[in-house]
Amino acid sequence: MKILKTIAEIKEYIKQFKCKDELIGFVPTMGALHEGHLTLGKEARYECDCLIYSIFINPTQFGPNEDLDKYPRDIGGDLAKLEAIDVDAVFLPDEKMMYPDNYKTYVKVEDIGKILCGKSRIDHFRGVTTIVSKLFNIVECDEAYFGKKDIQQFIIIKKMVEDLNMNVKMISIDTVREEDGLAKSSRNAYLTEEERKAAPIIHKSMIKAKEDLAIHFSPEDLIEDVILLISEEPLAEIEYIELRRSKDLSKVEDLSEEGILLILAAKFGKTRLIDNLLLN
Ligand code: PAJ
Repeated sequence: MKILKTIAEIKEYIKQFKCKDELIGFVPTMGALHEGHLTLGKEARYECDCLIYSIFINPTQFGPNEDLDKYPRDIGGDLAKLEAIDVDAVFLPDEKMMYPDNYKTYVKVEDIGKILCGKSRIDHFRGVTTIVSKLFNIVECDEAYFGKKDIQQFIIIKKMVEDLNMNVKMISIDTVREEDGLAKSSRNAYLTEEERKAAPIIHKSMIKAKEDLAIHFSPEDLIEDVILLISEEPLAEIEYIELRRSKDLSKVEDLSEEGILLILAAKFGKTRLIDNLLLN
């Protein structure tokens, strides 16, 4: 497995695949890799001739009071895990290379970046779309793999790819969960023992909403029941719970619609967790 630290190195590396018209698959990450991150690469491995991961903790997607400084880092462990799933190359840029002094350009998808997580994390998605466009330009991938766990992120990047005519096929992969249903996340490591025990209430309540979809008569009615269920867990502090259309995150008007996504964010102590489930 090649470890490439500069843009020049990766540009040189991909030439051998480009000239043979071979398929390059790409998985961008911020490291502290778990089974969720690795599933993306395992899927990509079936499809692609060359599989590239990037590990870069992107400062522009963190707000001033967020966890940039204490975001988990384990580069040695990450590289061993990537080697084990037969990754061809890992791109490990540093901050100065991605954002040199006097950096000025940002990519922003309007409207869908302002709802849900975008309400409390003001410039978060602008940071995500900026770094992902830069990485797409550098890696020149044909296909990019993202997790459905961060469904708003996936839909926003997909819109960017469409609007900016980027030549990248966007592929989304199902959320990998712990045995008790909690979605795997690098941030789960911040949970105290008590909070960790409480956190599966999120998935439990989403499953219940899916089972009970037919007995509710309006989106508001269903949301009310999910709030009640999660509120039984005193450590959970709900930030938002909404029903959105899975194709574009627009609001669901009626429960008879196709593609209803239940999407939520909740805090357990200082740790903010997000999750979502397709109800039909
Ligand atoms: P990160 O949080 O490291 O996640 C990298 C990818 O792994 C994302 O596509 C995310 O949706 C996926 N992922 C995380 N947990 C998952 C799980 N339990 N099951 C399936 N997939 C999962 O998302 C980012 O990094 C950054 O915003 C990034 C896109 C790299 C831009 O900086």
